[in-house]
Amino acid sequence: MLIKTHDNGFIHPVSSEITPQRAYAGRREMMKLLAGGVAGAALAGWASREALAQTQRPGKLAALAGGKSGVAGAVVMEKVTDYKDASTYNNFYEFGTDKADPARNAHTLKTSPWTVEIEGLVKKPGKYALEDLLKLSAQEERIYRMRCVEGWSMVIPWVGYSLSALIQRVEPQPSAKYLEFLTLADPKTMPFVGSRVLSWPYAEGLRMDEAMHPLTLLTFGMYGEVLPKQNGAPVRLVVPWKYGFKNAKSIVKIRFVDKEPATAWNKAAANEYGFYSNVNPNVDHPRWSQATERRIGEDGLFAKKRKTLMFNGYEAQVGQLYVGMDLKKNY
Ligand code: MTE
Repeated sequence: MLIKTHDNGFIHPVSSEITPQRAYAGRREMMKLLAGGVAGAALAGWASREALAQTQRPGKLAALAGGKSGVAGAVVMEKVTDYKDASTYNNFYEFGTDKADPARNAHTLKTSPWTVEIEGLVKKPGKYALEDLLKLSAQEERIYRMRCVEGWSMVIPWVGYSLSALIQRVEPQPSAKYLEFLTLADPKTMPFVGSRVLSWPYAEGLRMDEAMHPLTLLTFGMYGEVLPKQNGAPVRLVVPWKYGFKNAKSIVKIRFVDKEPATAWNKAAANEYGFYSNVNPNVDHPRWSQATERRIGEDGLFAKKRKTLMFNGYEAQVGQLYVGMDLKKNY
């Protein structure tokens, strides 16, 4: 996210911004861009994502059927992003910084056996095997908007259950005010762990009431199947009213703490990535606006952007969590 892009005067992996079919439709513009030397990397990125999609079609992974969710706001009635885009256009810096890198490289991730360690201010700390976590509560399918801080968005059918089910199971002590999520950092299977782009392991955090909110999803699957590795298998977080980077992938530890935990992006650039990271069209990123977004797979490279909604459209559900807070300060 620190890499510069054209849109904003910084070069972010432009490849990632391109929707394949539309890239062809906009051939003339593309030629112009090529002439300007802009889109070479973009086309290379697109081609490799197309190639990856050939080998990673839905149906290859085990089914993970979720019942219909009864949680208010858990299903948005918007066109779902193609599986191909959702599984080949990823941020998972342990596997590289280009959007196509995770799908290309994450096959080395070993997702079984897997345990999630619960520690800190809880009555029932311990290691929880993935199999036990999967059974802890009924799986639900939730169709969430996901808005990335970089200015793009997707709509993805996730499968999981509210994180609150796990929190209740481990019985937090009254002094537990925050949760810290730590993810796998294995240099043997994750080629970019050790690179200086972030400090490892990738870390994220939520305030207790955010973590307990029914929309906060402990996620095991998407599109009715177990998570592809590049999407954070075998277990990740999805917090739909926050920018995508809050959604820690491949979680191995959840710590219950009394102070706001440090987060990977905040450590890397505190003025750009705050602890809260709520989707907020009124608070610009220091280097670009957050007022609009490009929906991956729908809008194409040259189409109009759509307006970004406060709390990513989940204001009715989560707005009360932040009443009285200065959201410019707590960005
Ligand atoms: N989790 C880990 N462990 N490592 C990462 O680099 N990237 C974050 C988040 N979780 C990241 C991570 C960012 S920047 C985004 S936008 C989302 O994952 C992307 O999730 P997706 O690729 O499934 O859409």
